[in-house]
Amino acid sequence: MINLAEFSFLSTLPTRELMKLTKTCRIQKYNSGTRIVIEGEKINDLLLVVKGQLSIMKSYGGENKTLFNIDPGDIYGEVELLNGTKALSTLVGYREFELMFIPKNEFLRLIGTYEQFAIETRELYTRRASTLLEVTKHKGQPARVITFYNVKGGAGKSVISANVAVMLARFWKKKVVLLDLNLSFGDQAILLNLPVEKHIHKLKQLKRPYNITMIEGQMTTHPESGLKVLLPPPRPELAEEISGEMISHIIDILRPHYDFIIIDTHNQMTELELKILDASNIIMLMMTMEITFVKNTRLLIDLFQRLHIPREKVKVVLNRAFKSMGLEPAKVEKSLAYAISYFIPSEGDIVVPSINKGVPFVLSRTSDGSTILESIKHICASLAGGMEKKQTWSMFSLLKEVFKLN
Ligand SMILES: Nc1ncnc2c1ncn2[C@@H]1O[C@H](COP(=O)(O)OP(=O)(O)OP(=O)(O)O)[C@@H](O)[C@H]1O
Ligand SMILES: [Mg+2]
Repeated sequence: MINLAEFSFLSTLPTRELMKLTKTCRIQKYNSGTRIVIEGEKINDLLLVVKGQLSIMKSYGGENKTLFNIDPGDIYGEVELLNGTKALSTLVGYREFELMFIPKNEFLRLIGTYEQFAIETRELYTRRASTLLEVTKHKGQPARVITFYNVKGGAGKSVISANVAVMLARFWKKKVVLLDLNLSFGDQAILLNLPVEKHIHKLKQLKRPYNITMIEGQMTTHPESGLKVLLPPPRPELAEEISGEMISHIIDILRPHYDFIIIDTHNQMTELELKILDASNIIMLMMTMEITFVKNTRLLIDLFQRLHIPREKVKVVLNRAFKSMGLEPAKVEKSLAYAISYFIPSEGDIVVPSINKGVPFVLSRTSDGSTILESIKHICASLAGGMEKKQTWSMFSLLKEVFKLN
């Protein structure tokens, strides 16, 4: 027989009420993968998880997204039962699971009779209602998640992601958030000259599930562009406390509120990066013209294939093109067996001072008329304008001649 007193949500109720619930409420076992509630259907009972784990999923933009998970002792249905709405999400169980069904009238009677139980319910309701109802309110397209990635460092992930994010926010007037997920040694605070007062680690002190107000409360605004930035923890050793699962949850909450979520990453492939890649709509695979980058990028493309990451999601970006390369882009494409989608020239005279000043070069007069500015404009136009025209090397070589680059 289950002991309901072990579940903190019910622990304020007197023993006789718990006995009554145990005797009168139906408990049922289910197989992994069973959908218990489907978004939009009527709910008659409060559900208490007795065993297993379930995901709360919501559809928007034609995709089903997990909002949060619930474990033994958690309940589901309080928002719908108290608001009188139909199911705001779909509930799917992992592994084998068991649920107790507490009829609506019984739930309402307990709230009316026991003050502490009513307070607990209200707190839970407040946290979850904003998550569930906010997503429902959103009518537009969910954000596109664009991740700058490679397993080898120094490809320009941070510099280019910062400039793309600022340009989309400032010149395309998009609602953009930049997540610095190089959690131990992220550079975005320096690149954008931002104070590190708010950061992702502060979210750890808050109770899950998060809502948009909680997450935005820890974001920093870049004053010149309106870009929002979620900075990494202030000390490297705190990075390991941020899990891949927490990042997926944050991305899911942000998605309905933004046009773009731009992600800067660290050079590794752990559970965190796998979650990020999974949540991404586009992976900007950054590389330069070095043979070691060609080798690693090739290995990554093969790995992505084995992980069933769709090919159209992965765009190879060749950064620092023209820097006495000794390698031909066409040969690189051949050994990658993959087309290069974007070329960015090497322009140290523009990039280095912009890094040192903390002013992205897309905002600085020194980049006016430069090819590097053109290349960032091209990337932003294809992301924001839906213009997926491939930039070919011959087009780019022409620019090289016009601008007399080497
Ligand atoms: N297009 C470019 N032209 C000139 N210099 C560049 C260009 N892109 C990047 N750099 C230089 O390369 C350096 C590395 O760039 P960045 O820090 O963005 O790489 P990263 O991939 O984020 O590196 P890490 O893996 O260490 O985080 C920068 O300090 C910058 O000076
Ligand atoms: Mg970096």
